[in-house]
Amino acid sequence: MATDGLLSKLALEAKASEIREILKAIKTNDLISFGGGMPDPKLFPVEEIRQIVNDVLRECPDVALQYETTEGYEKLRKELLRFMNSEGMCISSPDEIMLTTGSQQALDLFGRAFIDPGDTIILEEPTYLTALMAFRPYWPRLLLAPMDSEGLDTDALRRILEGRRSRSAPASESNSKIKFIYTIPTCQNPSGLTMTEARRKELVDLAHEYGFLIMEDDPYSYLSDSKTPPAIKALDNDRVIYTSTFSKILAPGLRLGWIAAPEMLTSKFATLKQALDLCTNTLSQHIAYQFMARGYLGSYIAKLKPAYKNKREAMLNALSENMPGGAEWTRPTGGMFIWVTLPEVYDTQKMLPEALANGVAYVPGGSFHPSGRGKNTMRLNYTYPTMEQISEGTRRLGNTIRAHLA
Ligand SMILES: Cc1ncc(COP(=O)(O)O)c(C=O)c1O
Repeated sequence: MATDGLLSKLALEAKASEIREILKAIKTNDLISFGGGMPDPKLFPVEEIRQIVNDVLRECPDVALQYETTEGYEKLRKELLRFMNSEGMCISSPDEIMLTTGSQQALDLFGRAFIDPGDTIILEEPTYLTALMAFRPYWPRLLLAPMDSEGLDTDALRRILEGRRSRSAPASESNSKIKFIYTIPTCQNPSGLTMTEARRKELVDLAHEYGFLIMEDDPYSYLSDSKTPPAIKALDNDRVIYTSTFSKILAPGLRLGWIAAPEMLTSKFATLKQALDLCTNTLSQHIAYQFMARGYLGSYIAKLKPAYKNKREAMLNALSENMPGGAEWTRPTGGMFIWVTLPEVYDTQKMLPEALANGVAYVPGGSFHPSGRGKNTMRLNYTYPTMEQISEGTRRLGNTIRAHLA
């Protein structure tokens, strides 16, 4: 079809996510994938979901197959309120919670609700690649904050903000309003790092001082096998807009996430969401509600944690055995990823075709760096591959790295 001159600027500039491209390759090859952030499919609670679907379709098909309100199924919002408050947050009404089509949709709504072209948003570097894709259509300026082993480096961020206020910053940059910071403070995607409690408090102080909001994306804290610092939402209920998802603690195929925010914002998000999909999948909401109300969620998470810990330890051991000298990697307490840094001479993007030819996939770390840095880094997922694949895939990866420079 001839579309010359017809596609929008947005469509022309849009680039496919490298992760999705790798996922496509996996479907057509027998690659070992350390690529996407996928749960272990062998652990899906298939029997429980089967029972729930049977019961729901017998007992209330008229509502479970009907449109829902845009905000979402109220009984599920009440369960989520209890769930979040049991984690130390302080949500006072189900109206502060809204269901979304995955937390990916929440990210789009954040962009839609807050970014006008030229506004500034702060991102951690590295950050979740697909968040960047969600915000880009709203044409923000990016202000990048570095990370270290304690997560987002709030001292560095303070210096950047102070510098921006000073006269040396270009006028257009210093006039651009900072709308929000987007952060994944716990077991971050891609780095696996967790921000310390002191830094979370410092970030809240910065947000107050500079008048921006905090978008806390939290898919992974529920899977951490050691105690994590409180959610930032627990430190400041008003300034923090929180999103999480059932994708990692139940099943991504349900496409179910949620936002927790002050009620005036959830109603704004609901208005914006109507144009996207009218409402979140009703049947999925009934499944998630029953899964929580029957007490399955707690026991399922308790089953996932040791299983993922075993896999993580297997990958960490395999990396010690197979990585060449000079390679370093993070040791997360949960989440789904290990972040590997190779010596500077490597370019993991250029090396990817060799890795794929050797039967192993990873995501090159440059994709998570809006600044173009991180060429020598890569993200490895350990939850999807089997134990055998972890060991064999890491061996293939080590061989690829050694052969690449030779
Ligand atoms: C940090 C982060 N945010 C959001 C998402 C989107 O998740 P979903 O749309 O499946 O809820 C993911 C998925 O991997 C993620 O890692």
